[in-house]
Parts: sequence; structure tokens; C-alpha cells
Amino acid sequence: MNAKRRPLIAGNWKMHAGGLDGVRLAMAVREFASSVPHVDVLVVPPYTAIAAVAAELEGSSVLVAGQNVHGKPHGAFTGEISGGMLRDCGATWVIVGHSERRQHFRETDADVAIKLAAALDHDLSPIACVGETLEQREAGKTLEVVERQVAAVLDVLASAKRACAVAYEPVWAIGTGKNASPADAEAVHAAIRGWLAAKDTGLAERVRILYGGSVKADNAAGLLAEPNVDGALVGGASLDAGSLGAIAKAAESLARS
Ligand code: 13P
Repeated sequence: MNAKRRPLIAGNWKMHAGGLDGVRLAMAVREFASSVPHVDVLVVPPYTAIAAVAAELEGSSVLVAGQNVHGKPHGAFTGEISGGMLRDCGATWVIVGHSERRQHFRETDADVAIKLAAALDHDLSPIACVGETLEQREAGKTLEVVERQVAAVLDVLASAKRACAVAYEPVWAIGTGKNASPADAEAVHAAIRGWLAAKDTGLAERVRILYGGSVKADNAAGLLAEPNVDGALVGGASLDAGSLGAIAKAAESLARS
């Protein structure tokens, strides 16, 4: 972490906790959030729980995000959700280009750029996800792949008037229990910071770069101690408020030190 940027710990619930279980989880997150005043805590429920979770978190510091957004503001797109709808439900952030969207729903770099612009048009702060597959890593193509994914969103990020984040989530580390080592994560984060800086130095200083992929309470401190790791995008462990709280507390102690 770097004192210039406030740490951001986000819990992506994926396709879990979409009802009352989501509200209960949000209540537990709300409880620990007051003990981490130097950390931004964000929850990312499925669409069905966003409104109830946002209502539960009203008056607290916990932020709420959507997991995806459509590129158009409205229209005949059965099953899709627009940025305006996310705002109406109480979300102020949104994830775009998660690897599960790229992999299972064939989202391309161009789609991700359109979604990012749509998010900003609706006053949503985006978390743009990038990351290589195991095959790409083993072929030595990590930086090439991530650079291409970052390049696709660079112009939109540079035009943003709101807080933005980039999440580096190596696909091979997601849900596998095999996190990137702090040094491997830092190498990619530093490269991302460099590409942002080549576009605009202010942008590079502002944008928080999160690491995601098997972040747990016991590996978070090591990852967050790296100078270009500004936070974490947590999947599985975020479904347990105790675990997300421990990760947020690791960030809080680093931010205080
Ligand atoms: P896990 O923490 O379960 O590996 O998921 C990471 C992720 O995809 C967060 O968006």
C-alpha cells in the first residue's frame, strides 16, 4: 500500500447471498466497518439483494456495488441491468469485465470499455478487472495480456471524474486457493501503474489497483504490504464477515503504520 491512496477492500459475493442471507451478511459487515476507519469497505451483492443491502447499510461507511452493468441506459435487453437501475437500488460502484464475465459470457475488451463508460455515465465508480489465464501465464504472456486489457479501458479511465479502480485478478488464482505471491502480484501491479502513468501521472496516483484471487485472512497482509497493491477484491472469503473483517483489519493496520 501507499499512503497516497486509501485502501479498498471489496467483497464480491458472486451468485451467493441474494436474499435475506445477503442482508444478514451486510449487517455483519456494517458491524466491523466502524473498526476500520482508514479503509473503504465495499460489498458486491447479486442484483436481487442490492436494494435491501443498501438500505441495511444506509448511514454506514460501507459502499455497495453491482457485479456487472449493461452498456445501454435502457431498452429491449431481457435479463440485463442498466447503470441507472443500479444507482436507483443504492449502488455507487460496479465491477466491469470480471474474468467470469469474459470467460462464461464472452465479454470482450471492447465490451468492457463500453460498460466502463456506461458506468461513469450513471455516476457509478467502476472496478475494471484484468488478468491472465494459466495458459497465458505459462506461455510467458502475462504482461502482454494484461497490458492489452488495460489499454482497452485507458481512455475511459483517464476521462473519469469519479474514483476508479483496476483489479488484477489472475484467472488461475480465482477460487483455487492458489493466490499469486506478493512479489508476483506486485510485478503486475507495478506494470499497470506504469501504463496508467504513461497516459497520465495523476491518473496513476489516483487509481487504486486491487489484487483478487484467493485472498484470505492469512495471506492478505503480505499482499497488501506491497507498494502497488491498494486493496483486495475478495470472492469466497467475503461470504464470511469474520474473514472479510480480518482482511480489512490487515489493511487498517498497514494504513496506520
Ligand atoms: P476468490 O477470492 O474466491 O478467489 O475470488 C476472487 C474473485 O473473483 C473476486 O472477484
